[in-house]
Amino acid sequence: MAGDASDRWWEGAVLYQVYPRSFADSNGDGIGDLRGILEHLDHLAGADRSLGVDGVWLSPIYPSPQHDFGYDISDYTGVAAEFGTLDELDALIAGCHERGLRFLMDLVPCHTSIDHPWFVDARSSRDAEHRDWYVWADPPPDGSPPSNWESVFGGSAWEWDAASGQYYLHTFYPEQPNLNWRNPAVATAMGDVMRFWFERGVDGFRVDAIFAAVHDARLRDNPPVRRAHMIPGFGGDAGQDALWSMARPEVHDVIRHIRAVANEFPGRVLVGEAYLPVEELAGYLGHGRDDEFHLAFDFELLHSPWEHQHLTLAVERSEALHPPAVWPTYAIGNHDQARPASRWGAARERAAAFLLLTLRGVAVLYAGDEIGMENADPAILPDPPFDRAGRDGYRTPMQWTPTAVAGFTTGTPWLPVVDAQARNVLDQSADPDSLLSLYRRLIAARRASPALARGTHRSFFGVGTDVMAWMREAPGDRVLCLLNVGDQPSRCALPTARLGADGGEVVVATSARAGHVTLAEMTLDALEGVAIRIG
Ligand code: GLC
Ligand code: CA
Repeated sequence: MAGDASDRWWEGAVLYQVYPRSFADSNGDGIGDLRGILEHLDHLAGADRSLGVDGVWLSPIYPSPQHDFGYDISDYTGVAAEFGTLDELDALIAGCHERGLRFLMDLVPCHTSIDHPWFVDARSSRDAEHRDWYVWADPPPDGSPPSNWESVFGGSAWEWDAASGQYYLHTFYPEQPNLNWRNPAVATAMGDVMRFWFERGVDGFRVDAIFAAVHDARLRDNPPVRRAHMIPGFGGDAGQDALWSMARPEVHDVIRHIRAVANEFPGRVLVGEAYLPVEELAGYLGHGRDDEFHLAFDFELLHSPWEHQHLTLAVERSEALHPPAVWPTYAIGNHDQARPASRWGAARERAAAFLLLTLRGVAVLYAGDEIGMENADPAILPDPPFDRAGRDGYRTPMQWTPTAVAGFTTGTPWLPVVDAQARNVLDQSADPDSLLSLYRRLIAARRASPALARGTHRSFFGVGTDVMAWMREAPGDRVLCLLNVGDQPSRCALPTARLGADGGEVVVATSARAGHVTLAEMTLDALEGVAIRIG
């Protein structure tokens, strides 16, 4: 069931990721919360100086012992007290909808917390009702783990449960036991969780770590790495190919099940998360059959070095594997990955924003990247770290004002503020040349242009040293995008005959360039991006 065109609002949408703990604290306990998010919705949409995004995605806000900051859920249909109440969540959903913002939550279907009542029951005895909701295995005679599978965060993926005398599987931390999706009761329960939130008005889910849903039933040992695999990026790198423990073919049955539940509710969207090469990821989108995820993060761009060939290849592979009706989903940052301003360098952040927002695709912007926040220097981070996988540096408080606590809290922030004097929303709002102002212009230009929002994509190669060039085209609207990813000015040789035009009007640029440009004479400054409407 594809739904009608208005149901497909997410095509070409810009989504904004909020890490609730770090966005805005309304009660001074140093931890961001739902009321804080509600109070800052002007930043996202509906006010003069909003970014103008289409939707917001919240990382998990459910009750949790917070071993993995909410990605270890102990109650799928509640709200953690530190974030607020269900009523406040309803108010936030309503506040978003009043501004025309869609509201997405995080669905974590592959594991629960060890504190979830299902797991508490499961580990109570081998005959417990929920025993088979998780993945248990006997040890071999020597007592070692049942297979060599490594956790994404390092160490064995098997945890010994002395009381019941078996191991349980955990793809992530030991506090995150994997659910057993081979058990139909799990599928039913998760479907009911989705319905609970859809009925409350949630517009969709970002679906966490889906490749971990199913493992090999025979528990075969993983081989050593043979091919570039994209799963790491967190703490652990086991040097093994997760051939038998992750991304098994059966995962498609799981995705089709949750898609069928989403299809009961018109206009909802599922955005899958799987760190896989785009060739494998394309299958998670149902190869155009429209029966798996609507969208899935393509992390090739995020993982690409800032280098012309690599960036071009990331875009071309994605374009090749997402047929016109299927939308790539790009992110350049998230709560698990180094900040783009640190990974690629602050000098490149304007060019990176241009790339994210002018390519054909859904763009997901991580809070703080629009003001160029950098990774926290490990020296200022708490010791021992909150997150054992070392991601605290990408999760520091959002910097709203140039004050010591960044306007994030009136108390002591749970993680230190990095550099609110140098980068904050207040100052950048007032400065037309700031990164934040560029983000606003790029999103506004995209909204105003059918070509940039939903048009097709066609690349041109060999246009100039370090220049990426592509055309976005929709009926009655053609926009040529040029981006010099190099650190030197670059002269372009544009195929004006093929373009059928020798000039055009600048729609948006990372620079001060404006008005009419003559294509034959284009020289792009270092790291300059320009989108030009071609008549
Ligand atoms: C996803 C989340 C990450 C979490 C992991 C386990 O990759 O983005 O933060 O640790 O899944 O749920
Ligand atoms: Ca708080």
